[in-house]
Amino acid sequence: MDHTKPMFTEKIFEGKTIIVTGGGTGLGRSMSTYLSRLGANVVITSRRESVISETAQAISDETGHAVLGVAGDVREIESVREVITKSIEKFGQIDGLINNAAGNFISPTERLSHRAFQSVIGIVLNGTINYTLETGKYWIENKIPGSVLNIVTTYAWTGTGYTVPSACSKAGVLALTRSLAVEWGRKYNIRMNAVAPGPFPTKGAWDRLFPEEVRKAFDPAQRIPLRRVGDHQELANLAAYLMSDYSAYINGEVITIDGGEWLENGGQFNAFRVISDEQWDLLAQMRSKQKK
Ligand code: HXC
Ligand code: NAP
Repeated sequence: MDHTKPMFTEKIFEGKTIIVTGGGTGLGRSMSTYLSRLGANVVITSRRESVISETAQAISDETGHAVLGVAGDVREIESVREVITKSIEKFGQIDGLINNAAGNFISPTERLSHRAFQSVIGIVLNGTINYTLETGKYWIENKIPGSVLNIVTTYAWTGTGYTVPSACSKAGVLALTRSLAVEWGRKYNIRMNAVAPGPFPTKGAWDRLFPEEVRKAFDPAQRIPLRRVGDHQELANLAAYLMSDYSAYINGEVITIDGGEWLENGGQFNAFRVISDEQWDLLAQMRSKQKK
């Protein structure tokens, strides 16, 4: 057993339908593939029709389970309603939602136009609100104890420069998660949780956030105590657990999966890792001299 292996093997999602926004690429595709392998009826959606139909077919061929691909934009409420309606038509019921679609890029904030800022907020925050609200209303009306998993990141609570629209949006998504976990948990038995990944290589994130010129000077793995980036299967394992009934008592939680990255860079003295053993010896000698 190792962290790149699937955690569950039984069909724990047999008969359950889960919508994954941004499910055509990257982490969304990896989570969708694993949920499908575990028996779920998976619905994937994002803007590019060709990506969605190709991925739906590829996952279905791999797992032997039906996957519905519907092109759509999380910012457009009519598109969100269409995906929900088509999911119910195809599979009868929706049981889970993973808000994974995102937009992001690096830039000094003062260089951004208001449209650039709004673009990311529209996808990450408003898109998550749109899907959560529409799916939630459907669950409430039909007395279905649904479950939502929001994909945030650790700068949702630390904040960060250079991807400020994303930081503002992810912070909002985290607030939504905790707020509705209480409001809808108590009244409707709807669970809301989040995961906060550190760096996991995907084309979407790497091309935009760690382009080659940046990567030469700034290797994301070096910022991480465990000295490696994440493997898609370990995130898929965590997502499957949080969407399953094994986590039925977890509600309103955000689970970090980052090899210790944010704590390392948050702790004031962690940068002392650059001090060598010889330098520590020298400091100890100076201390004992001072004592004498
Ligand atoms: C500055 C930019 C920009 C950039 C776009 N804009 N890219 N400004 N730097 N790199 C500006 C445009 O000039 C425009 O403003 C406005 O943003 C909208 O641009 P559009 O291209 O019309 O937007 P849209 O088609 O909606 O595309 C959205 C997008 C794009 C966010 C800009 O990158 C996208 O489609 N991304 C989807 C996938 C993605 O981002 N994946 C990465 C997620 S990774 P003006 O004023 O000129 O009209 C992630 C990881 C987090 O979140 C943590 C990692 C550790
Ligand atoms: P990705 O492959 O670029 O995934 C983003 C997806 O969102 C794409 O499939 C994209 O498809 C879709 N999308 C963007 N705008 C959309 C819109 N308006 N409507 C519908 N779908 C839209 O990047 P990723 O790395 O897998 O990111 C997945 C999630 O993980 C994101 O929430 C991201 O913030 C989070 N995350 C990633 C990392 C990492 O290191 N990779 C770390 C922390 C958090 P279209 O362009 O076809 O619409």
